[in-house]
Amino acid sequence: MIRSVVRGFGAHLPERIMKNSDMEGVVETSDEWIVQRTGIRQRHIAGEGETTASLGEMAARQALERANMTPDDIDLIVCATSTPDNTFPATAVNIQNRLGMHHGAAFDLQAVCSGFVFAVTTADSYIKSGLAKRVLVIGAETFSRILDWNDRTTCVLFGDGAGAIVLEAVEGEGTNADRGVLTAHLRSDGAHREKLYVDGGPSTTGTVGHLRMQGREVFKHAVGMITDVIEAAYEATGLGSSDIDWFVPHQANRRIIDASARKLGIDDGKVVITVDHHGNTSAASIPLALNEAASDGRIKQGDLVLLEAMGGGFTWGSVLLRW
Ligand code: ACO
Repeated sequence: MIRSVVRGFGAHLPERIMKNSDMEGVVETSDEWIVQRTGIRQRHIAGEGETTASLGEMAARQALERANMTPDDIDLIVCATSTPDNTFPATAVNIQNRLGMHHGAAFDLQAVCSGFVFAVTTADSYIKSGLAKRVLVIGAETFSRILDWNDRTTCVLFGDGAGAIVLEAVEGEGTNADRGVLTAHLRSDGAHREKLYVDGGPSTTGTVGHLRMQGREVFKHAVGMITDVIEAAYEATGLGSSDIDWFVPHQANRRIIDASARKLGIDDGKVVITVDHHGNTSAASIPLALNEAASDGRIKQGDLVLLEAMGGGFTWGSVLLRW
């Protein structure tokens, strides 16, 4: 049986850091309020010349290097983003060109904060169906560009960045027998649109628009939706929380992460947290967290890794994989 195995990982963050104390000069807020409600202490903000594609390119280059591959080896790029450089062409095609790659295919996938989970699931489906052999899966965002910097209820929550992994088709034999993506579960429900959306777009206002959110409403639904897709992953595989080596959730909010882990019975020590220093980077948050935990040696080959995300739409999903 063909498996999609992680061969490389990478990430890139803008150089500029905005601490909570810097936010105090932008809107009426405080470090104490932000830390207490969200766990966020700082975020990276893209500077002049930095775009979703430029951040994505850097993350992709690092993932390729770690995979010991070049762009020639890749036959598909999937980039999860809600903040593309342009309405079109796709940011994935822009990254493909930046990598000097002119073969294969590249496309964007838009599922907001769940984008990376949706992109891994899509790449895995391409690999398992034989349509692709080596896929660069990227999550890249510049949410700072769609924030209303006068709205303290949203602008303190988000940051910019990019992460990437390389997935390769491997015959599940020998040492690879139990590696790769084991199961994935995706959901969406547009009835929740008003709770988290951008109030612009090419077909409505002809503008880019700004992020709007009913924070309490999002919070209310988050833990239930997250546990729903994780329980679906457990049911599909016969595995459970005690088998998980690393829980790598979408990094929206420390309180949502803690409540989800508690409800699922996942030990604190198995949870990868980056929201404190990255903020919510939407589709980039999971690959940024994977990069951090795999770079510092926490996530090792053979570890069972659980990914989950929930975001605008609403969309939500889980991926269970063996690293
Ligand atoms: N600084 C200081 N005060 C603030 C700020 C701020 N940045 N933002 C809001 N407040 C004030 C409000 O004006 C309100 O004041 P009032 O009582 O005088 O009216 C008070 O704080 C409480 O506001 P609430 O919105 O009720 O605060 P809440 O406790 O719900 O926390 C938060 C807000 C952190 C957004 C919370 O609802 C939350 O975490 N929601 C989840 C949203 C989320 O994570 N979204 C990310 C995108 S979706 C995803 O990725 C899953």
